[in-house]
Amino acid sequence: MTSTQTKRLVKPFFLDISPAERTEIQSAVGEILESGQLILGPKTDAFENAFAKYVGTKFAVSVSTGTAALEIILRSKNVEGKAVAVPTNTNFATVAAILHAGARPVYVDMDPSTFMPNLKMLEQVHKHENIAGAIWVHIGGLIAPDFIETIDYCKANGLFMIEDAAHAHGSALPEGKAGSLGDAGAFSFFPTKVMTTLEGGMITTDDEAIANMARSLRNQGKGGAAFGNEHTDLGNSWRLNEIEAAIGLVQLRKLDDMVARRERGVSDLTEFLPSLGLEWCSVDHMSQFSGYKLIVKHPEDDSRSVSEIKEALKAQGVIPGGGVYDKPCHLQPVFSDVAHPKEGLPISEKWCPRHICPPITSGTTEEDSKQIRDAYRSVYADRASS
Ligand SMILES: Cc1ncc(COP(=O)(O)O)c(C=O)c1O
Repeated sequence: MTSTQTKRLVKPFFLDISPAERTEIQSAVGEILESGQLILGPKTDAFENAFAKYVGTKFAVSVSTGTAALEIILRSKNVEGKAVAVPTNTNFATVAAILHAGARPVYVDMDPSTFMPNLKMLEQVHKHENIAGAIWVHIGGLIAPDFIETIDYCKANGLFMIEDAAHAHGSALPEGKAGSLGDAGAFSFFPTKVMTTLEGGMITTDDEAIANMARSLRNQGKGGAAFGNEHTDLGNSWRLNEIEAAIGLVQLRKLDDMVARRERGVSDLTEFLPSLGLEWCSVDHMSQFSGYKLIVKHPEDDSRSVSEIKEALKAQGVIPGGGVYDKPCHLQPVFSDVAHPKEGLPISEKWCPRHICPPITSGTTEEDSKQIRDAYRSVYADRASS
């Protein structure tokens, strides 16, 4: 038997649906099937209204995925043939959505303390490139400390700012929640996210033109009409269905509770990490943190590779979560035709492969937190302060 087999495991994924909620969802499924209204019905309306209220925007438009949410917002901003700034440190989907919308991604490097770009980096890119706007990604649920200043800069310069809030359900600055700060926000409800509808996405915005175009584009471009056969826009089949919306309603009701549990798991670890001299991307400036990923940096002076550290943590029963992200997008084979600066994007290239996200979920217990701390203490034993 290996030591992994003898240990209890702390896993990076937890489906937070209780037995009572499962029963509630089953009964909603029965109701939906009986009604025959499978799409664009009362559950979808209720989920969109509740989500808009939660985020604090005038409109929320549900869609099939977070990727669709991004592409729809971009299309509603008429980006075809234009350039859009985007962090190279993001999920494939953010860059893919720009390409699918017919625009050109302009990569931006990242600040090593936040794993996302800062305003200076945007200014620099804007000096050299005729960008129409930017997508900023709330990486791991973190909102950039200078995000409000960045939005002010965009407004002053006629640029749009789209929030990729796929990791940031419930994340907030004192000025407002993720998804309510820029021109529009794109959320994902993919199974591993802070809340799920199995698959799904949501667009949040105060801009009625974006909301109207989103309703059309998600529904084969049928303008304002949910049904019928008149197509005014080149849309797609990007709808959420009524069953997914019903699951979303149950998840959204307890989103703050799930986030609070994640935040507890995060602070259980961040109170301890200084004793090992380890650094992480701080969330202290935020009024609420979704807790999707705590980004812990593997120290520069430690000659062991990140894979060795991950294996050592696994041997202690602590299975690290996926990184955000190990390989920046400009190095992804599929994007080899997208131009990037000759000198590369050095901070992302250095730090993306040098971080680990401990397995914190809304199901993390005190016992899990202790096991994570013990594993870190043992793996980084040489750094422990006496
Ligand atoms: C940052 C980011 N943006 C967009 C997406 C796309 O979301 P979806 O998988 O729902 O299409 C993801 C999904 O993992 C993501 O992590």
